Amino acid sequence: MIHDSDFAMSALEGLQASPKWLDSKWLYDTHGSAIFEQITQLPEYYPTRTETGILKDQIDALSAVLEPGQVLVELGSGASVKTRILLDAASGLRAYVPVDISADFLEETAEDLRKAYPDTPIRPVVADFTGEITLPQALDDAPKTAFFPGSTIGNLPHDTASAMLDRLSRWPGIEALILGLDLVKDTATLVDAYDDQAGVTADFNLNLLRRMNREIGADFDLSAFRHEARWNAQLSRIEMHLVSERAQTVTVAGQAIRFAKGESIHTENSRKYTREGFAAIADRGGWEIADFLTDTDQLFAVAVLRPKRA
Ligand SMILES: C[S@@+](CC[C@H](N)C(=O)[O-])C[C@H]1O[C@@H](n2cnc3c(N)ncnc32)[C@H](O)[C@@H]1O
Repeated sequence: MIHDSDFAMSALEGLQASPKWLDSKWLYDTHGSAIFEQITQLPEYYPTRTETGILKDQIDALSAVLEPGQVLVELGSGASVKTRILLDAASGLRAYVPVDISADFLEETAEDLRKAYPDTPIRPVVADFTGEITLPQALDDAPKTAFFPGSTIGNLPHDTASAMLDRLSRWPGIEALILGLDLVKDTATLVDAYDDQAGVTADFNLNLLRRMNREIGADFDLSAFRHEARWNAQLSRIEMHLVSERAQTVTVAGQAIRFAKGESIHTENSRKYTREGFAAIADRGGWEIADFLTDTDQLFAVAVLRPKRA
């Protein structure tokens, strides 16, 4: 068993801290990515259907951003379901580059897209989007639009989000960024979206323990932890936690990790934005808002951003 992998080191760093935490990127192994796709279909999970509605309703404005000859680069592409709305509307794209950390799921998705869009080169890249992303060299000088849907930006700390946006704004050829962001709303709607009746989000969260058992020699008893979604009003974010049902000691990558009864591991943040709050983050990252598209209930927004230094 390898105990010095990036996953093992990152897990130990978080589990030996107080309070305990895990980086949400580890939620997405192949099984986690598949469970996330189930979440997007849940009645409580308004973000996917709302963002999809905005993309469809505003497709004329969005396809005007995607000019012929451009490369469309998607960050955290998952199953690339929403992307199909853009791919159906855009003509003459030079390539579509889905970027994701979940390698096998990304390759399967790319295969499906190649069949559905035989005229568009599909060039998947496995990468952590919070670091440097190496795009296929042949596309270096091409004009580019980045697509970052799903309010995945809300999973990142403000500084990480701004640093990532800053790197994107400096990409050679970058012309626009189309970014989905979830908006502040009533607490019940938010909590229900991350704690569904069917328990699918709980399974998604607990899969992290399953993954540690399989990949880094942990011995978590999944029945001794429960999923919890909490609204943190001060930081404007939903937090996912795994709460220990009893006092227990778990071995992770060869280290003993002690849990008190009721102690939690903080596994994900999903930040909710106002337009003004988001504009400040975008500004720090080198972008200005060219368009801000929302649904009639103002649940979700799709922002079209242009680099300030263009
Ligand atoms: C919230 S899901 C969104 C999926 C899809 N874009 C959508 O809108 O439905 C987040 C996606 O980002 C990927 N992801 C999470 N953290 C990542 C990271 N640090 N680097 C690259 N991909 C990451 C996950 O594997 C997953 O596919």
